[in-house]
Amino acid sequence: NTYDFGLIGLGVMGRNFILNVADNNFSAMGYDLDDEKVNALIEEGKDTKRVNASTDIQHFVQSLSQPRKIMLLVPAGKIVDSVIESLLPYLDKNDLIIDGGNSFFTDTDRRETYLQSKGIHFFGSGVSGGAKGARRGPSIMPGGNKEAYKEVQPIFEAVSAKFKGEPCVAYLGPKSAGNYVKMVHNGIEYGLMQLTSEIYDLLKKAGKYNNDELHAIFDSWNKGRLQSFLIEISAEIFKQEDDKGEGRLVDKILDKAKQKGTGKWTSQNAMDLGIPIPSIDIAVSMREISALKEERVLADKLYNRPEPAIMDKKEMAKWAEEALYFSFITTYAQGLHQLADASKEYGYELDLSVIAKIWRAGCIIRAGLLEDISAAFTKDRQLPNLLLSPQFVPKVQSTVGATRNLVAYGAKNGIPLPGLSNSLTYFDAYTSGRLPLNLIQAQRDHFGSHTYERTDMEGIFHTEWE
Ligand code: 6PG
Repeated sequence: NTYDFGLIGLGVMGRNFILNVADNNFSAMGYDLDDEKVNALIEEGKDTKRVNASTDIQHFVQSLSQPRKIMLLVPAGKIVDSVIESLLPYLDKNDLIIDGGNSFFTDTDRRETYLQSKGIHFFGSGVSGGAKGARRGPSIMPGGNKEAYKEVQPIFEAVSAKFKGEPCVAYLGPKSAGNYVKMVHNGIEYGLMQLTSEIYDLLKKAGKYNNDELHAIFDSWNKGRLQSFLIEISAEIFKQEDDKGEGRLVDKILDKAKQKGTGKWTSQNAMDLGIPIPSIDIAVSMREISALKEERVLADKLYNRPEPAIMDKKEMAKWAEEALYFSFITTYAQGLHQLADASKEYGYELDLSVIAKIWRAGCIIRAGLLEDISAAFTKDRQLPNLLLSPQFVPKVQSTVGATRNLVAYGAKNGIPLPGLSNSLTYFDAYTSGRLPLNLIQAQRDHFGSHTYERTDMEGIFHTEWE
């Protein structure tokens, strides 16, 4: 038997991805060291008659049709390198290895160069949508050799999520373009999650919304312009009963958010590129602050904070919806701005309208808004920032007021809203024709003769300050 597609790593994601491949009439072979996982897949896939799995790497590789298409869904890091090494003795020229994990992009570049020297193609390909996405259709973000992509294109297009019939996968660019785009996808994901949690906090503390009301309002938002996966699952979360006690589960969950690093990498690399993404940076910092639970509880006892003034529920709901819309837009704007710059810096040749398109379904940051974002970048392929799109000006202009109101309310009432306020501050700064950084330049020149430029004449100046 020869199988069309091979997959290494039969955790939930891997198993679901293979079953999805088989549903789409391709045959697929899985590999894992763990025979329980191998048996589980064989059992689950037996009705399709297109799935098999093995714990023997040689048998696995030799069961695949050439050029072999082997996807890795294993944890990022050294495991990827050791899996590659274990495959190498059995591979032939032009075989394709696809890393579907959240690998760091420079690791992908290193692996691609290494495998190129052996005639093997290596693809870093983001896969988003969690376990359900892998089973029913993820958004897939492949980068690498364009010609080699054609080998796997029919399989990826078949298994990917569809938005109005269009597959949510596209060849994104050379080298680590796929991993890079997935990394920024995750940075945006961190930002949107932080913003959603702040709005939840406001509705609860200032609007006195209970979980049923929270469910209802998120559910209604999901039918409007905020329609998105993260709003949809939040609505579901507020309804979930605690199966271990009284009340709703959300109220029992410890307020310490974990992270696996992709948000942090997005921020670190944005700093390297010199691109501001404060809505994402703060989302990473908030996960770090959340982890300091014990210190927070101590500090909570040391300081008084105002008792939040209760707001009218209707007004609160209106402002919350507008502020969320405003801050979602500014967060996507920052992530896409980073992609545009990274594309130039690393030679990725990214097309932002295509990226927004393949994010419309399947992935964690899928949202109705992405249709408008994609249209804005289709209209102007050189658009440096979404905030400069004429189509977005009225959307942003009409919702910034509510954001100001809520940020001011949070400041006055001691409710931390760092995502909302960073989104607002980013907007205010990015749309300020004149910022006070002339003073910083003067200070730099004053204490260190670092020189400055002038608004009224060309050249570099230095002053002997009095
Ligand atoms: C996706 C997700 C996924 C990631 C989770 C968890 O697109 O399906 O981004 O790749 O693993 O979001 O990330 P953190 O553990 O860092 O929150």
